[in-house]
Amino acid sequence: MKVLSKSSVSFSSMRYRKFDRAGNVINCNYTNFNRADIDWKKFAEFLGNRYKDAQRVQIHSFGCSDGSDVYTLIINLINNLGEQAKKFFPIFASDFAPEMIEMAKSRKILLHSRDIEFLKEQSAYGFFEEDKTEAPQIMSGIEFYPHKVKEGLFSKVNFSIKDIIKSSRIENFSNKVVMFRNGWTFNSLKKQNEIANNLYTKSNDKTLVVIGQSDLFKSAASDYLQGRGLNQIFLPAQRPIILQNPLVSLTLR
Ligand SMILES: C[S@@+](CC[C@H](N)C(=O)[O-])C[C@H]1O[C@@H](n2cnc3c(N)ncnc32)[C@H](O)[C@@H]1O
Repeated sequence: MKVLSKSSVSFSSMRYRKFDRAGNVINCNYTNFNRADIDWKKFAEFLGNRYKDAQRVQIHSFGCSDGSDVYTLIINLINNLGEQAKKFFPIFASDFAPEMIEMAKSRKILLHSRDIEFLKEQSAYGFFEEDKTEAPQIMSGIEFYPHKVKEGLFSKVNFSIKDIIKSSRIENFSNKVVMFRNGWTFNSLKKQNEIANNLYTKSNDKTLVVIGQSDLFKSAASDYLQGRGLNQIFLPAQRPIILQNPLVSLTLR
């Protein structure tokens, strides 16, 4: 497998794609800050409430791409939970694409003007510094500015290479938050089913599984997870993308 191209870019900070020999897309690292399929502020507050009695909570973000999703979550946890946010750090972020993790570990991130806008709104642009040694990258006529993630943010994430299929066979997710967002579709239905089974079997009533909008529309993730017995939670003004073990009667509807 090889990265063949950086394709056209809309408002995603990262959009590497991999193709098979027939030209089909077999993986895509599309991501950006503040991805709009989740209300990040409400999600951070939700986590604060749900785990208010826990001393420490592990969040695993599988399929993290360049880290935009986890950085967005960290910024929202800090801004909305204050001191309480600390118990969620470090977040364990992983991806099976080695080039993404290599880039994330080197603290490099390409920021689009919309990413920068979001970071400024959140008073979080100070966590980044523009890397003036590298020229902006133009992809499909749009400029991406190379940045370095500063220690204050970087130290709150632990990046590693992992395939969720293998990890879900061996790791236990009791009392943990498992994010695998917008990556299910790049796995065969058989594998999606296995991931859902493994997540369910390795969960307890305090586990939370979070998927993304494209998983909901383009993969069988929601069906398989619910088929095993996970319930959807709806956050106001948000699509039903958070699933939890049915033993908990919590509902936000
Ligand atoms: C479209 S990106 C989404 C990134 C981010 N989670 C988001 O929602 O913006 C999907 C990511 O999932 C990763 N991925 C797909 N299948 C995976 C698997 N089985 N294990 C780990 N990562 C996987 C891909 O390499 C890619 O970086």
